[in-house]
Amino acid sequence: MENMILIGFMGSGKTTVGRELSKMLKMDFVDMDAEIEKRENKSIKEIFDSDGEEYFRKIERELFTSYEGRYGLILAAGGGIVESVEAEAIRKFDKVVFLHATKEELLRRTKDSQRPLLMVDDVDKVFDELMDKRQSLYENASDLIIQTTDKKIKNICKEIVEMIWWIY
Ligand code: S3P
Repeated sequence: MENMILIGFMGSGKTTVGRELSKMLKMDFVDMDAEIEKRENKSIKEIFDSDGEEYFRKIERELFTSYEGRYGLILAAGGGIVESVEAEAIRKFDKVVFLHATKEELLRRTKDSQRPLLMVDDVDKVFDELMDKRQSLYENASDLIIQTTDKKIKNICKEIVEMIWWIY
């Protein structure tokens, strides 16, 4: 396998699954948000607060482009990558895996996290708006959709590894 990208909503498990998968498959792993924080020397929340979402999206797009065609890489993208870049660019990755979970599960996992888009009064409404916009974008960009609700990380990874070889 040349490379793989994990996409999905905030809290879908891209970072945890990506890290575990990279061990199983002996591939490199990059978490885009962590890489952005390192490069900017600020947390994602600080970038949103001081430089704005537009700026964050620009950095996200530039960073994404720098990984195109990188051999042996598993990339955990930020949840908004489907809005930052075209599906066509995402599909240049050999395998595109969309991690999915129920709304309740995603909200539970992201509760009390420092995710700027969800640090709002009406999280429920914002969640629905984002999901309305993104669900079909995730689906259209992906080769494989994996449900993660109530599943252990190890089992999610095994499922991906078993399924991934059927994707051309
Ligand atoms: C975002 C998701 C976050 C991070 C930023 C914006 C989004 O990443 O990139 O807060 O637009 O969905 P995770 O999906 O890793 O939480």
